[in-house]
Amino acid sequence: MASTVETIGYRDGAVVLIDQRKLPQEETYVHCRDHREVADAIRDMVVRGAPAIGVTAAFGMALAARETGLIDAGPWIDHLESAAKELGETRPTAVNLFWAIGRCLDHARNRLSEGRSSGEVSESLLTLAHEMHAEDVAMCRRIGDNGAELIPLDAHVLTHCNAGALATAGYGTAAGVIRSAHAQSKIAGVWVDETRPFLQGARLTAWELHRDDIPVTLISDNMAGYCMRTGRVDCVVVGSDRIARNGDVANKIGTYTVAVLARENGVPFYVAAPTSTIDFSLASGDDIPIEERKPEEVTHIGGLRVAPEGIDVFNPAFDVTPAKFVDAIITEKGVVQPSQGETPEIWMSEG
Ligand code: MRU
Repeated sequence: MASTVETIGYRDGAVVLIDQRKLPQEETYVHCRDHREVADAIRDMVVRGAPAIGVTAAFGMALAARETGLIDAGPWIDHLESAAKELGETRPTAVNLFWAIGRCLDHARNRLSEGRSSGEVSESLLTLAHEMHAEDVAMCRRIGDNGAELIPLDAHVLTHCNAGALATAGYGTAAGVIRSAHAQSKIAGVWVDETRPFLQGARLTAWELHRDDIPVTLISDNMAGYCMRTGRVDCVVVGSDRIARNGDVANKIGTYTVAVLARENGVPFYVAAPTSTIDFSLASGDDIPIEERKPEEVTHIGGLRVAPEGIDVFNPAFDVTPAKFVDAIITEKGVVQPSQGETPEIWMSEG
C-alpha cells in the first residue's frame, strides 16, 4: 500500500517539506523558496533520511538555478556550484546527498556544453528533480518487492530509526519492505525501536506505519535484545545512509548494537537501500564520515532537560555495522548477502 504522507513536494516555486521535527504532535509544512532555505531545512532536520535529503537537495539545486538574474553561462554555473557546496555542507554521512547534488551539477554542465542556455538548463534541472523524486518512489517499491521475498509468513519484524515514506520521496526502504510484505499479508507485527536521541522510531516510524494501519509496537532501544532473546523477532530490517563496497553499512546510531544482538540470537539482519546509497569509492565502512550532532539532542527530550547542566555529551548520529553481521542488502537491483561473502561490488560497473 502506498504511504498517505507527502514528504517532499514542489509548489508555486517552493520546495514544500513536512516538518519532521514537529511530528507526531503537529502536521505542518515548511516552504523553502531558495537553496539556502533548503540547506537550512536539511541541516535542521525538517527533512531527514538519506534518500529524502538527496531528493530535497535536487530541488534545492533547481531553486538555485533560477534564483539569480544571471544569464551568462559562466556566472550562472559558478552560482550553481556554490549552491552545491552549501547544500553539501549540511550533513556529512548520507551519500545520497552528494550523489544527488553531483547528478544535478553533471546535468547542468553537460547541457551547457551542448549549447543550451542557462534558462533552458534551469527548466531541465527542475524536470530532473521531479524525475529523481519519481525514481526514488519507484526504487523503494522495487526494494519493497525484493525484500518482501525474504520475510516469512506471520512475521514479527524489528526496525530501527525511520527508513519510511518520511525518509524517502515516498513508500520507504526498510518500511517499504514492511509495506510490501504487509500487502502480501505476511506481517504479524512490527517492533519499532524508539531510536534515541532524536526519536525517529517513536515519532516518525510509529506515526507513519500506524497511520497506514500496519500493526506497530513501540519499544525503547534497550528492549530489543529482550524481544529477540524471547523469540519475539523473526527478522530485523533497517535502512542505510551509506554502504561501502565491502558491504559495511552506516545507519542510525544503535543499528550496530541491533545487528550484533540479532546475530547472537539467530535473527536475520537485513538492510534495505537504493543503490544510490552505495559509495563505491569507499573500500570499507571505516572511511565513512560520522556526523556528530549537538549535545542538546541527548540532554533534552521534547525541550525538557533530562541531564545535569554542564554535563559532557558525546552524540554520534550514526554507526557502522560490519558486513559480517549483514545477512542481506536489499536494493532495487536485487539482493546480496555480505555475511556470505557477497558484496555490492557486483553493481559497481552498472553505476
Ligand atoms: O539522522 P537521520 O534521521 O537522517 O538518519 C536517518 C537514518 O539513519 C535512516 O535509517 C537512513 O537514512 C535510511 S532512510 C531510508
